[in-house]
Amino acid sequence: MELQSKVNMFEPYRMGSIELSNRIIMAPMTRSRAIGNVANDMIAEYYTQRASAGLIISEGIAPSPNGLGYARIPGLFNEAQVASWKKVTDAVHNAGGKIFAQIMHTGRVSHIANMPAGAKVVAPSAVAATGDIWTDTEAMQPMPVPSAMTTEEVASTILEYVQSAQNAIDAGFDGIELHGANGYLLEQFLNPGVNQRTDNYGGSIENRARFVIEVAKAVADKIGKEKVGLRISPYNPYNSMPAYDEVFATYDYLSKELNKIGIVYLHMIDYAARATEEGLALIQTIRNNFTNTLILNGGYNKERAE
Ligand SMILES: Cc1cc2nc3c(=O)[nH]c(=O)nc-3n(C[C@H](O)[C@H](O)[C@H](O)COP(=O)(O)O)c2cc1C
Repeated sequence: MELQSKVNMFEPYRMGSIELSNRIIMAPMTRSRAIGNVANDMIAEYYTQRASAGLIISEGIAPSPNGLGYARIPGLFNEAQVASWKKVTDAVHNAGGKIFAQIMHTGRVSHIANMPAGAKVVAPSAVAATGDIWTDTEAMQPMPVPSAMTTEEVASTILEYVQSAQNAIDAGFDGIELHGANGYLLEQFLNPGVNQRTDNYGGSIENRARFVIEVAKAVADKIGKEKVGLRISPYNPYNSMPAYDEVFATYDYLSKELNKIGIVYLHMIDYAARATEEGLALIQTIRNNFTNTLILNGGYNKERAE
């Protein structure tokens, strides 16, 4: 990939309609401190301490009970959760910062012991992730075989993303990031080793990408495309994402479609891609396909970022 001349990370940057005070973006990080799945004073203090970043992307926040697979992660699907986040966003804004909510539906990376009553572990297909997951009541547990979403459940899950994105805006977030990386629900649809569906949401590249694209489109229609970003992690095996032949073609297609929707940024965890010639070519292809802001993450120090 051709290296451009150095950029000054401390200069303001205009991202769509949002003015960032610098180019440094805080990566989303699950902290597992949201007792009762609501934000609290410790969380407000944590983000306020970091408000001098150009943009904070919050820890992964569940859009629905079915998406809440880890212990003590927050949600954005009820009134108490929205009210709790309002205190956080007010505090960050008062400190001069900007903050996007990362909407993370964990899909099969989950355990029923971590979830609100009545929830279930869902995924594109009934294929379990390998490995264990922490639960507060039963310590480490193997990740379960999820139930394959029906086509109707795919549609209702899209509505969960839309509602939680609206809830994020109501809670004062400047925008939302859809978590399409690290082996959670959106990437589970993209990966043919995990998605074995035979309806319109599985099989061809167009079908495997359909869920991600429909979620992005529906959320952008609801809250405005200038308030929606999406995170991806091609070639990253994290959370039992098997390697497959069509990674390049899948993300080539996806980035073109996301460009048509016009979301404000794509956020790529690129350290797996950077390791191969094909991956480096994919980074460049995504850069060419997607004309709005591209954020890169994974082992960036000041020198590399510049
Ligand atoms: C404690 C911890 C929690 C994380 N939680 C999330 C998360 O909720 N959502 C997400 O997209 N990535 C999450 N990540 C990944 C980071 O956003 C980032 O991609 C990773 O740390 C690599 O970047 P770095 O080399 O700058 O640390 C987490 C990473 C760490 C260390």
